[in-house]
Amino acid sequence: MPDSKNILSEEKLGILYLTINRESKLNALNFATLSEIREIFTEVSDNKDIKAVIITGSGDKAFIAGADISEIAEINELNARKFSENGQEIFSMIENCHKPVIAVVNGFALGGGCELAMACHMRIAVSSAKFGQPEVNLGIIPGYGGTQRLTYLIGRGKANELMMTGDMIGADEAKSLGLVNHILPTKEEAISKAEEIIRKIMSKAPLAIGMIVDCVNSVFVQDEDGYQTEANSFARCVKSGDYKEGTSAFLEKRKPIFKGE
Ligand code: COA
Repeated sequence: MPDSKNILSEEKLGILYLTINRESKLNALNFATLSEIREIFTEVSDNKDIKAVIITGSGDKAFIAGADISEIAEINELNARKFSENGQEIFSMIENCHKPVIAVVNGFALGGGCELAMACHMRIAVSSAKFGQPEVNLGIIPGYGGTQRLTYLIGRGKANELMMTGDMIGADEAKSLGLVNHILPTKEEAISKAEEIIRKIMSKAPLAIGMIVDCVNSVFVQDEDGYQTEANSFARCVKSGDYKEGTSAFLEKRKPIFKGE
């Protein structure tokens, strides 16, 4: 794993555990942390030993309380677009990762923190978690993909309400809106739930998992024909050894052993 000052990383049994580690600043995302996320996700794509990623925040209070406001206060008209595009690009790397990425939201997920959680493939919240896009309080809007992903995830009316008011919502409301997949009482239990889901996914054909990521994401790309992406991806799966293994194993009444080939 690349050297990271702001992110703790540990790999165990194919799962890469990432902890955003700026607890005294409620794990706010500064530029350095964003660059580290970029480097880590480049490695995740290349490294065959990593099969899945769990992202959480250090401590019990925050997942990520947003982009670092001390840095936001310094951006100007000339570099603001670049600021936004840089974050968008890094969060797209998470969203497009062919290995499952689960956010374990252990407290405040605000602004860029909510945006990062939404870029993950699933979100598991601790019951104390709070979600929100409070950028309007600073005179700005979400800039790391939040206006798009929040709208896709919870629908236009509620997304408008949350972004325009800057209100926070708790885990229960986030789940009822479809922002969160599961709620668990503690961070440890939320991580166990993420591991349970990941272990199940890891027993399936890795190429098919990557194709599901591409097809699901294609729904949100306006100039892409998602049905075409699905048909192409389906055909790619059928070319794989894992397809032969999966179908043979079923017919031979045994468990398949997928190799990701
Ligand atoms: N950027 C930079 N620093 C942040 C931060 C952020 N997004 N969120 C929290 N911090 C820092 C605080 O400045 C404080 O640092 P200090 O101890 O050096 O003064 C520390 O984290 C603890 O935060 P504090 O505000 O004292 O905790 P709290 O429990 O009173 O309030 C929040 C928690 C999350 C409600 C509050 O910190 C907050 O509103 N944060 C900003 C959220 C936001 O607007 N995010 C979107 C940014 S685009």
